[in-house]
Amino acid sequence: MNDLVDRICARRSVSPRHLSDPGPSPEELKEMARAAAAAPDHGRRGPMRLVHIPDSKREALAEAFAGAALEADPQSDAARVEDARERARNGACLLAVIATISDDDPRVPPHEQWISVGSAIQNVLLAAESFGCRTKIVSGTRVTSKAMRSAFALKGSEHLVGFIAIGSFAGSPKDLPRRRADEVLSIWTAETPDSCDG
Ligand SMILES: Cc1cc2nc3c(=O)[nH]c(=O)nc-3n(C[C@H](O)[C@H](O)[C@H](O)COP(=O)(O)O)c2cc1C
Repeated sequence: MNDLVDRICARRSVSPRHLSDPGPSPEELKEMARAAAAAPDHGRRGPMRLVHIPDSKREALAEAFAGAALEADPQSDAARVEDARERARNGACLLAVIATISDDDPRVPPHEQWISVGSAIQNVLLAAESFGCRTKIVSGTRVTSKAMRSAFALKGSEHLVGFIAIGSFAGSPKDLPRRRADEVLSIWTAETPDSCDG
């Protein structure tokens, strides 16, 4: 019906372990950041930022992932810790997503700032797809660990949301079911129901 809507709907996540080289070029990464900055943002707070993990720092990230795994379960065996490390090596390109959420402005409550973060993430995913890449955002329990907070030197109001993995994938991504338009959109009747939460 419309090329932009078709492309939005064609976006599909691919597991980071299948996102191989080539990843985005430095110029394309900058374009993704530009797209992130175009997200709706009440009060122009800029609550989302991206941190690119260069290839030279993947092993340092792998150690932070291992630390997070041991923090979650100190009894983790060597295979489990190595699996955690491996996840930091997946994806041709890896971006950490950091949200800065404050509760100091009643006009822009935290949920609005989170919505802005989510919108910026979606813009990055769509921009990456426009360059022929596939993506997936992943989090996991590690994102709230002390190991990861320390690795990214997060301050009190900062949160590690997850990682956007970007790369090339020649196959067909999983076609997980999505809601139909009529499950998302309804028409307001202006009638007050007998019981409501309001
Ligand atoms: C903030 C955030 C974190 C997510 N973390 C994970 C994750 O750790 N593992 C996972 O399999 N999917 C995760 N997902 C869901 C996938 O990124 C993806 O949206 C989902 O698999 C649906 O696939 P689709 O994007 O192709 O519609 C996360 C989504 C969001 C928004």
